[in-house]
Amino acid sequence: MRLVVEGGLVIDPSSRLEEARDVVIEDGKVVALATPGEVRVADQRLDARGRWVLPGLVDMHVHLREPGEEHKETVASGTHAAAAGGVTTVACMANTIPVNDNAAVTDYILRKAKSEGLVNVLPIGAVTRGLKGEELADLGELAEAGCIAYSDDGQPVMNSRLARNALEYARSFERLVISHCEDRNLTRGGAMNEGDLSVKLGLGGMPSVAEDVMVARDIALGAYTGARIHIAHLSTAGAVEMVRRAKRSGVQVTAEATPHHFTLTEEAVGDYDTHAKMNPPLRSRRDREALLAGLADGTIDAIATDHAPHDATCKHIEFGLAAFGVVGLETVLPLTLDLVRKGVLSRTRAVELLGLGASRALGIAKGTLAVGADADLAIVDPDLEWVFQVDRMRSKSRNSPFTGYKLRGRAVTTVVSGRVVHDTARTQAREG
Ligand code: DOR
Repeated sequence: MRLVVEGGLVIDPSSRLEEARDVVIEDGKVVALATPGEVRVADQRLDARGRWVLPGLVDMHVHLREPGEEHKETVASGTHAAAAGGVTTVACMANTIPVNDNAAVTDYILRKAKSEGLVNVLPIGAVTRGLKGEELADLGELAEAGCIAYSDDGQPVMNSRLARNALEYARSFERLVISHCEDRNLTRGGAMNEGDLSVKLGLGGMPSVAEDVMVARDIALGAYTGARIHIAHLSTAGAVEMVRRAKRSGVQVTAEATPHHFTLTEEAVGDYDTHAKMNPPLRSRRDREALLAGLADGTIDAIATDHAPHDATCKHIEFGLAAFGVVGLETVLPLTLDLVRKGVLSRTRAVELLGLGASRALGIAKGTLAVGADADLAIVDPDLEWVFQVDRMRSKSRNSPFTGYKLRGRAVTTVVSGRVVHDTARTQAREG
């Protein structure tokens, strides 16, 4: 079976290629990047002329909510949302019910992914049992069961001894530890960024220093143990600067930023809009600018969504009680392309942040269209204007701060292992 994706502008950060090519796919792998028109024989052709052909996006921070909260998201609905967003690989966080802290849960997620998933699903195992921060989970068992990394995301590992032990064990299993950096003693009772605005709105504050102190600790532990450490959802100027300096001094630290943190500021909380409530919270303009600088200069390795679906019961209540989190899989691409249009990122850098950066951090061979790579790709119309509408979302949840936004750029077709898993032409026909 030969599939040819014809005539698109292929952007592959792994080889710094930005040229019109035909991507030739056989048995789920890229077998050639041919001069357009050169390949005469094909079983299936996809016309990509006038479009960009990118390695499928890799989102290393997603909450799929299955098992346990299937009313918010499932492996099926979450991977459907991913495919619609051009995302071909998701790493899913351990804060399911029950927690993914043992092989049975990992196995369950992997079986669901195989039978119902549209894109690649890589489970992340918990660092501590039940995410309680009291004792380590069986990290060896989780690695053997197929977990790609470890994280207590949603909760910090407050006990530094456990955090250190986790790094040392993870290194022996060649797995990454992904750290949710938040000093809970400093954020307790908080609902938004601490500052003039939180005072004005009468909401409890979550100070930026709560992130900074934990990033400092984790960098110190990374330097001391020599293990790799990844900082999730970076949101403060102080944290960006610490990661920048740590990288310069040779610490094996990587970091991610989310589209909501690099697009919005705390002002989005506006009139107590719970769709602007997440953890870490939206920060100040200065913090947002620091994130943009970090994305551009290589301090930040990956753009990750922290796709965190919540139902109406969790969000349509008073701000202080509402759940933390926003969905993001269906909007990550246009929000990132915005940074290209604004001159913050080059095209290749944006594509690198959307796939190769996370792949390198996780140690997986994704985010590239080099010959021999898995044929995971997104055909993108970079100029397509569309309005992000709630009733068109593939996710089961609706908690996006970008509802009603006019967006530019969209994945029109998504391919995983040489198989079309999303195609707007077909979707629109079905939607009528
Ligand atoms: O906003 C968030 N939501 N931040 C987290 O760290 C966890 C996530 C969730 O699971 O809802």
